[in-house]
Amino acid sequence: MSTPIDQRHAELLAGVDIFANLDRLALAKLAAHIDWVEIADNEEIAREGGPGDTLYVVSSGTFGVYVSTDAGLAEKQVSSLGPGDPFGEMALLTNAPRSATVRAHGPCEVLRLERARFLALLRENPEVALSVAATLSQRLHAAQSGWEAVDAHPRSGVEKPAPAVHTAPAPLRWHLSTTGIVYLASLGILLLGWFVPPPEGLSPGGWRALMTLSAAVPVLAVGAIPDGVLALLIATVWVVGGVVPVAEAFSGFASTSWVLVVSVYLVGSAVASSGLLFRLVLWTLTHTGGGFTGRVLSLGITGLLLGPAAPNATGRISMMAPALNELAEGLGYAPQSRPAAGLAMAALAGFGQMTAITLTSSTTAVLVFAVLPESIRVETSWLGWMLYGAVFNLTVFAGLMATIVVMYRPRVADTRDSDRAFNALALQRVLLGQLSRHEKWSMLVVVLLLLGFASQPLHGIHPAWISVGALAALGAVGVITENTFRMVNWSFIVLFGVLASMATVFTTSGVGTWITGLAAHAAQGTAGNPLLFLLLTTGVCFAITLVLRWQAAAPLATIALAPVASAAGINPVVVGIVAVVACSTFFMPYQSTIYLALYHGTGGNLFTHSQARPVAIAFGLATLLAVIVSVPYWRALGLIY
Ligand code: CMP
Repeated sequence: MSTPIDQRHAELLAGVDIFANLDRLALAKLAAHIDWVEIADNEEIAREGGPGDTLYVVSSGTFGVYVSTDAGLAEKQVSSLGPGDPFGEMALLTNAPRSATVRAHGPCEVLRLERARFLALLRENPEVALSVAATLSQRLHAAQSGWEAVDAHPRSGVEKPAPAVHTAPAPLRWHLSTTGIVYLASLGILLLGWFVPPPEGLSPGGWRALMTLSAAVPVLAVGAIPDGVLALLIATVWVVGGVVPVAEAFSGFASTSWVLVVSVYLVGSAVASSGLLFRLVLWTLTHTGGGFTGRVLSLGITGLLLGPAAPNATGRISMMAPALNELAEGLGYAPQSRPAAGLAMAALAGFGQMTAITLTSSTTAVLVFAVLPESIRVETSWLGWMLYGAVFNLTVFAGLMATIVVMYRPRVADTRDSDRAFNALALQRVLLGQLSRHEKWSMLVVVLLLLGFASQPLHGIHPAWISVGALAALGAVGVITENTFRMVNWSFIVLFGVLASMATVFTTSGVGTWITGLAAHAAQGTAGNPLLFLLLTTGVCFAITLVLRWQAAAPLATIALAPVASAAGINPVVVGIVAVVACSTFFMPYQSTIYLALYHGTGGNLFTHSQARPVAIAFGLATLLAVIVSVPYWRALGLIY
């Protein structure tokens, strides 16, 4: 049950002009970052000329706005502010000192929003920016018509923007930046394909296909060109360079995997924006007990269960991160205390790192599946993938949960008073209101979607078509709109199509057979020892992710290692599952967009990078352990023969 104060705060937030265009989900997420502060009579909350890094909105009471006159010897009131009025926006936007003093007339209450959050809000919601601009214009207008006294004494503290300085153009000089070197290296590799004869056993076409891909790797590594553009470039070089016909270079776009990833991605985005996932997270946070251990487990498990319905791991994390600060505070954990970091790590484990639990738990898993040999794909259902990966995934998950519970549990010094924050969680629930029509439809469709996936062995319908059905249903009831399409990361979807084409291109151009030949040779080193081979695979994945992003690293590792695995008597699907997980490491923050989404989504102050490191290491070790534990299981299933 919510307390009356939540009701009042909820009504106030919903009535604030500058937030008028935010929907209830955006408002509920925003509420996570708001502090409610009581102000005593006559207290100054902003001082003219002083520093300012906070936005306020009057919650109750009245404030006077004063500016100094007569060179600071006197002051006069220029305006008064009542409930719903924002103030403090000027210093935030201009980086200048406060333009006026704001003083309470009687006891008041304000809500506070930190600078970083306010700026993020403006960036994400242009309507809020427009409303702030309108408020500013009104104030400017009011000031112009009644503030002559101040005009006579221009403020000294306010900086004028520096005039643009025109300097003479620098002499033209060759300046080689890192990206320049990378482009040159790539071009060099590409030219090798056309001017150096192929190695023995490989056709010229195959050699060129391979060199085109190799040329792309350095560019992918530094992220110099958007992934989608680079992908189109690769396919274009294949076609123009005469390696394969256009229908083959783009065959990935005409595959069930591509349809699956696009439709599941859209369903996930729509369900997230209906507010259903956020509500579920809030519900879990407020309804599970068991102290630190209980919360860690419930966060982890909720994330794991939401995975298959919301396959974008980064999206899942961004969606739930705003509630984490409140949860930590609610439990009385100070930011950057051990248990606060522990909760964040539990969220990372469940929502971010469990990406191969099912085939649709991440778009990268779908992509890896797409690059597996056709024969393997045909015999692996959605449920099959889940069963094959069960022991492996659950070992990783258990390893992470155990590490977090043991290493991050609170000590007495870490806890403090917590009522305020639990009120904030309650406020967020009030703002979300009753289950909306969109949420109800989303819930129904997600349940049916998962049932459809799981029962594939009975009806034989590919998950891609089931997802399109779900998409159609959500479209018919208005949950999916044109706007949903704007939320999709098309750069990734294009990369997906080209990487998925790669399997076909490599087969027709003979690269596949050539690698298999080499692989069989190489695999002799680990012959008869699948465990050694899979541990090496894991190590290779760790290494690749130092230079390549997860979404590209996992499929490339699979493409390269699947033939080797086959030669060593291991079903390539095993390599795929291991690659999805092992390529999502975050030893260094820059390696993982999932990790960064969590770090920034919690405002960058809930935990530090060094606090996350033990979990990053545990994730690596747990993955290795999971391989060791799973080998007998895979043998029993006949996946290692
Ligand atoms: P800032 O300059 O950050 O701090 C003082 C705040 O007072 C300022 O932002 C505005 O929000 C508010 N303020 C300044 N001048 C006026 C005015 N003329 N009318 C209303 N509010 C004002």
